[in-house]
Amino acid sequence: MTKYASITIRQINQLALVFLINKNKSLGTKMKLPTKQLFATIISSLALVVSASATAQDAAPTFYADALPLFEKNCVACHQPEGPKVGGISAPMSLLDYDQARIWSPMIKNALITGYMPPWGAHERHRGEFKDERYIDQKELDLLIAWVDGGSLEGDPADVADKDGLIASGGGTVLPESGWWIGDPDLVVEFERPVYVEDSIMDWQPTVQFPVPEGAHSEPKWIAKAELAPGGSWVHHIVSSHMGVGVPGRGPFTYPEGWGVLLPADPFITANIHYHKDPGEGTAVTDLTKAGFVFYEDGDVIDHVVETNLLPHRGWTIPAGDPNYEVNNSFEVEEDIYLLSMGPHMHYRGKAMRYELEYPDGEREVLLWVPDYDFNWQFLYEYNEPKFVPAGSTVHMSWWFDNSTNNRFNPDPSQDVVYGPETTDEMANARIYYAPTTPRGIVVGRELPADVLKAARDDDKLRRERANLLDQSQDDFSWLTEGEGSQ
Ligand code: HEC
Repeated sequence: MTKYASITIRQINQLALVFLINKNKSLGTKMKLPTKQLFATIISSLALVVSASATAQDAAPTFYADALPLFEKNCVACHQPEGPKVGGISAPMSLLDYDQARIWSPMIKNALITGYMPPWGAHERHRGEFKDERYIDQKELDLLIAWVDGGSLEGDPADVADKDGLIASGGGTVLPESGWWIGDPDLVVEFERPVYVEDSIMDWQPTVQFPVPEGAHSEPKWIAKAELAPGGSWVHHIVSSHMGVGVPGRGPFTYPEGWGVLLPADPFITANIHYHKDPGEGTAVTDLTKAGFVFYEDGDVIDHVVETNLLPHRGWTIPAGDPNYEVNNSFEVEEDIYLLSMGPHMHYRGKAMRYELEYPDGEREVLLWVPDYDFNWQFLYEYNEPKFVPAGSTVHMSWWFDNSTNNRFNPDPSQDVVYGPETTDEMANARIYYAPTTPRGIVVGRELPADVLKAARDDDKLRRERANLLDQSQDDFSWLTEGEGSQ
């Protein structure tokens, strides 16, 4: 039910956006843009259907001959039985299965036309730049729509010659037997007991400890991969220096070879968890979040210790009803770095976001342009090849907000909005992951450089201290941290 609602709202929102853009233009343009697009879609779909039925009946697109290979290439990484939980949400059906694909076919057409699927926020101009990008080629999109329009025919399973090969080459993988996408974790931790998120709670950000099983982690380790398995989609996000940030739209963290994060040998791994749900009777849930880690092995070399910065920008007020409020901030890069990834973060009023690099000689380059920001998907855009950013550069960040009634996600267009932790407040963050370019040459298993160990410990300490301040719950959840220091 909610799934249905989500796309409907999304579509309305997109229409509202188109309308908004066109309102500023002449009346002529106002009519032309949507109509032209609509015709182009109709004509291209018609052309395919017509050409298919003109040749022979059996040339109409079928599931096995036409749709399945495209689903495998573009969709089954998520839409498979027991697909990955991307930050708590699993895709609702398997597109490897004809019956399910047929039942969902009207929704599939919708999702493709509106651009809701495959989910991705970076503009087409970034094609080829980021890992796990999700763009679907126009030709493929047209063929899938033609398949739906042609009656979602089944065809002959024999038409798929090499099903496994296709899955393997299409970016879709099968969940390893371990149940973790990162393979066999070296360490798995979970809450000591489930966290109870009461009926009355809408937003709640407790600090929760994952106790480390006795003897499982007695010395600092370098994280190569980390995966969070939240207990449900109402786990809105999880922040931990070791695991990065777990939110809808993000898969496991896999650092490039030679890049790593140090996990100090603490009896606890600490994370700030943000729960967000509709409050009310019967809405209480329990959460048992887990985390899994794969470590580097002795003898491996860590050249780049991953650092992260949230780059939050505060101090602005978005006026009630403003349809296009812009916020700007900048960040000076003091030493040569490799930029690994970028993660824009706003809340429901977020509309678009841009990172732009100004080189020391004044030349400018757009690093990331997200033209149609969607709060429900919080992607991390990770470079295929970490990007060199010379010392003396400036990163300019811009956020756009829609606080008007046109924005269907807007919790309250009559309110001025400022920076705040609740989902109904706003944020203008521009998280980056990066590392200095100078290789550290740290050999895993040998003595750790003191600065690295200190930085990792300080980070964790800061997180614990800050988190206590952020906990706004009136309820007694002291048992959450009960036992600290007793092990
Ligand atoms: C990154 C993972 C991912 C990929 C890739 C992906 N999907 Fe989805 N899809 C999801 C998730 C998660 C949901 C549930 C989201 C929701 O409820 O809004 C979903 C929902 C849907 C829905 C239901 C829409 C609705 O309103 O509930 C359809 C239809 C769909 N996907 C089709 C596709 C097709 C077709 C492709 C490939 C062209 C695709 N998806 C690619 C993750 C993915």
